[in-house]
Amino acid sequence: MFSQHPRGLFICFATELWERFSYYGMRALLIFYLMQHFLFSEQESYLIYGAYTALVYMTPVLGGAIADRYLGARKAVTLGAVLLTLGHFGIAFEGSLQIFYLSLALIIVGVGFLKTNASTLVGTLYPPDDARRDAGFTIFYMGINIGGAAAPLLCGWLGQTYGWRYGFGLAGIGMLAGLLFFLRGQPLLMGHAEPPNAAWLREPVFARLSRETAIYIATIALVLAVWLIMNRREVVGPMLATFGTLTGIVILYYAFARCTPQERDRLLVCATLLVFTIAFWALYEQMGSSLNVFADRMVDRRVLGYEIPASMFQSLPSIFVILCAPLASSLWLYLGRRNREPSAAVKFTLAIAQVGLAFLVLSLGLKLTEPGQKIALGWFVLNFFLLTSGELCLAPVGMSMVTKLAPQRIVGVMMGAFFLAYSASSFIAGRIAQLTATGHPATLESYAQIYTTLGCVALAAALLLLLLAPVLTRRAQERVAIGPLPRPEVS
Ligand code: PHE
Repeated sequence: MFSQHPRGLFICFATELWERFSYYGMRALLIFYLMQHFLFSEQESYLIYGAYTALVYMTPVLGGAIADRYLGARKAVTLGAVLLTLGHFGIAFEGSLQIFYLSLALIIVGVGFLKTNASTLVGTLYPPDDARRDAGFTIFYMGINIGGAAAPLLCGWLGQTYGWRYGFGLAGIGMLAGLLFFLRGQPLLMGHAEPPNAAWLREPVFARLSRETAIYIATIALVLAVWLIMNRREVVGPMLATFGTLTGIVILYYAFARCTPQERDRLLVCATLLVFTIAFWALYEQMGSSLNVFADRMVDRRVLGYEIPASMFQSLPSIFVILCAPLASSLWLYLGRRNREPSAAVKFTLAIAQVGLAFLVLSLGLKLTEPGQKIALGWFVLNFFLLTSGELCLAPVGMSMVTKLAPQRIVGVMMGAFFLAYSASSFIAGRIAQLTATGHPATLESYAQIYTTLGCVALAAALLLLLLAPVLTRRAQERVAIGPLPRPEVS
């Protein structure tokens, strides 16, 4: 698999695999840890979960910018890995609530430094016109999902069977393995990820401290600030609203003041589609929160006489991605060769419709279940399958759409906007999950009611996008940009 690629790819692959292993391993247990260990109410637990996952995807924008301008990807990834290792072991330590929040803050900032930079590092390993680049990213994406599939199976099982600390501890060991891999493998990056101006970085700025040290001190300050935010999590919503508005203003300013008419149209299409991704992710992100608790309470998880712990099912999305991603990409290639590949707008419509369907299918299953009984596992697995098949129509498509539709000079900002949309969705997802916890005690019926509403809202959003799709596709002129064959109406 790796023999045809630069040797640095293996290092990026392994580091990101272990990072995702620790992230998803810990996340599979998180909602149960909040409810059963710290005894937060279900409502409060969803809020904390939502704030945490939102912050995790807010920091990559910052981590990416600091690496681009100052640290370079190699130092940034190392810094991220150190913070992550400390954070995961901090949670495994099972200390006070404040130690727990501090550990979450370390993970949040750590992901910020590691995730984007490990991905851009993959890009730098290839010369600009290297045909192996896409294949390199596919292998990297497999690494993400191998980590995401293995972790909930192992950490979830250990955590819910033997004790939290074993599950969280294994997540920490995984991250430590990632850090060691990266440290040992750095030479294989062959200088591709060095700081843009190393001499400048070494210059002292204050009391003989170099700029590099100053950045590390600022990072510690950031961790402390995030720790504070975790304590005052009600500020996360207003923070997201502020960042979202600012990003919107920047995009509009660019579109109307700094773009040619064609660039403007494409940028606005990109921004509109990013707004629709919120409808998708906010429902998709029920997985680790309300659906995880739902699996624990309502699903008959017995297989061959063994009751599978709920958190282990968190590995299903990654397993489905590994199984179905090759299928999805060959489908797009097949349709592309016939000039029938759907536009990004249509793929997003399909994604949102699948999320809607996922919840309606689950509601149907609930309605067919006798009161007092648990719902059969198949319905739940089908729900996760539809959520993941939706993901395949949106996540990879969305990222490549951003690089295609945004003018080169603001691709970074738009990629940031993609993550910001994901972040906002994660927060909204926490709020939506709270709805499932209002009518105590939750019953098959109360879940069915809420999940039906969610399904219908998603289908309505999909319908709206379907109606907009022709205009968006025309304005984006995707075909002109990506293929030699123009659309009939353009030619
Ligand atoms: N499974 C993906 C990952 O962890 C989910 C994701 C998609 C996250 C897109 C961010 C952006 O990388």
